[in-house]
Amino acid sequence: MCGIVGIIGVEEAAPLLLEALRRLEYRGYDSAGIATLVEGRIERRRAAGKLDNLARELAAEPLRGTIGIGHTRWATHGRATRNNAHPHLSGGVAVVHNGIIENFQNLRAELEAAGRRFETDTDTEVVPHLVAQYLASGAEPVEAARRAVGRLEGAFALAMLVTGTQEFLLVARRGSPLAIGYGEGEMYVGSDALALAPLTTRIQYLEEGDFAILDREGARILDAEGRPVERPIIRTALSGAMIGKGNHRHFMEKEIFEQPSVLGDTLRAFADPGDHRISLPELPFALDAVPRLAAVACGTASYACLIAKYWFEGLAGLAVDWDIGSEFRYRAPVLQPGQAGIFVSQSGETADTLAALRYMKERGHPCLAIVNVPESSLAREADSILRTLAGPEIGVASTKAFTTQLATLACLAIGTARVRGRLTPEREAELTRALDEVPARVLQILQQQRLFREIAEELANARDVLYIGRGTSHAVAMEGALKLKEISYIHAEAYAAGELKHGPIALIDETVPVIVVAPRDALFEKTTGNLQEVAARGGRIILFSDAEGCGQLAPYCWRSVALPACDPFVSPILYTIPVQLLAYYTAVSKGTDVDQPRNLAKSVTVE
Ligand code: AGP
Repeated sequence: MCGIVGIIGVEEAAPLLLEALRRLEYRGYDSAGIATLVEGRIERRRAAGKLDNLARELAAEPLRGTIGIGHTRWATHGRATRNNAHPHLSGGVAVVHNGIIENFQNLRAELEAAGRRFETDTDTEVVPHLVAQYLASGAEPVEAARRAVGRLEGAFALAMLVTGTQEFLLVARRGSPLAIGYGEGEMYVGSDALALAPLTTRIQYLEEGDFAILDREGARILDAEGRPVERPIIRTALSGAMIGKGNHRHFMEKEIFEQPSVLGDTLRAFADPGDHRISLPELPFALDAVPRLAAVACGTASYACLIAKYWFEGLAGLAVDWDIGSEFRYRAPVLQPGQAGIFVSQSGETADTLAALRYMKERGHPCLAIVNVPESSLAREADSILRTLAGPEIGVASTKAFTTQLATLACLAIGTARVRGRLTPEREAELTRALDEVPARVLQILQQQRLFREIAEELANARDVLYIGRGTSHAVAMEGALKLKEISYIHAEAYAAGELKHGPIALIDETVPVIVVAPRDALFEKTTGNLQEVAARGGRIILFSDAEGCGQLAPYCWRSVALPACDPFVSPILYTIPVQLLAYYTAVSKGTDVDQPRNLAKSVTVE
């Protein structure tokens, strides 16, 4: 939700902090700030809006000092103003925070009653005041900071500077990710390894409740009980170069066009192209004995779970309860003994998905995470993981992570069907061949970009757009509607095609484009009937089908795009590409901020 970073080094910290914040901006970008320790005093620069505004402030009034902290914000409490931008200061203490302090009102009332004056509307500001209060009562900085952290409820990753001669960074982690980086005579802290990639690949992840003191020689870590503890230092595979845009205009465009290669990488992890058989790693539950699955995620990842439900039930005869993360733990789900959980997340830090995994683990259920960030909290807390090999996904709108999630889930469903005796070797070979062809088919679709750009020019003028489909295509329609909404700000809704006549068809007139996702599968004829219901009411139909489907329905369509013929099993992966391209080019046509859409953040680490 927000990005935090800290450096205790030998060079001027401000430029390095600014660069690290640029790599964290995808987590939130409505204001930003930096504070440094200069000859024992704290100095600060902050700006509302994008990071470039802070860069201009720093250019006008440079910050000196080799120790500093920085923050890029996605507002949770208090408007996105300069005054509410972090770092927050009080009594010689500067703090940056990612998360939500749930008891901040009570703490603020207590602190104001003790005479402390607040200047912002944020929850975070209680932290520097608490630390300053304990310092004023005679506590040493580390003790004062630890006592303050002990008073907090909720989720937080914190980095603090304290004025004085001692040179260190104080950091704490509960509920929001925090990584420590090891340099040569320098130490770093950041919300994720991506931010620190240009500085170091030696990373140490703090665990829940950890508190650490960083000086230039290293980190001293205390666990939740205050006991000194070691945490493993790993080498990440990330590099500074990995998150350039190449010759693409946006990260989202780059990531859409990376899909053929990253889908190939992900599929090859489960199947050798030659032997047409899926091989799965050891899982925390027996695929032939597990009685039921829960599939839980948020946003785009939840649509991958819905598609997986169709695959597991249709192919393997294994029941799947599909839930979105923010609902699952609050609906008192009835979990069968032995039921396993599958949790899907690009970032591995989505608070609601993480909470759902914890809910099932606490009740003794085995949990598998499908993640793109192997060092993430979800990856660390799951019993085991399957990695999507999408590489870093920077665009806030998820694209390559989604299709590689589908590829992973497809392989898992095929492997499950085989061990449950529901799949002949011949059918398994057909399905794996269909998967093998996916990267090439995706490339074919991407080569039609001009057609999508033309359609998008028209779609950009719409006020409302409907997406319809049946079966797995209904989930693809949901993903398409979300993509359009989140980057072009056009209102879009997805419906199961068979549902239109139960109300939504009242919305149809010639001003409402209707995107019909219609691979020629067992439901194609039914979807055709729904398409004709729309056409009979003047709806402007954009059809995605194969050449034969488009030919057959041409008389009813305003526009159509013929996709490569494919086995219906893999159609959700292929039919995602057109809805991604349509959303992307529509947003470009509207001139919205494609990579950092308003009000959004890449990783929603608060509930
Ligand atoms: C995707 O385009 C959205 N930005 C959002 O719905 C995202 O998929 C959701 O927040 C889940 O994120 P995760 O995959 O990192 O858990």
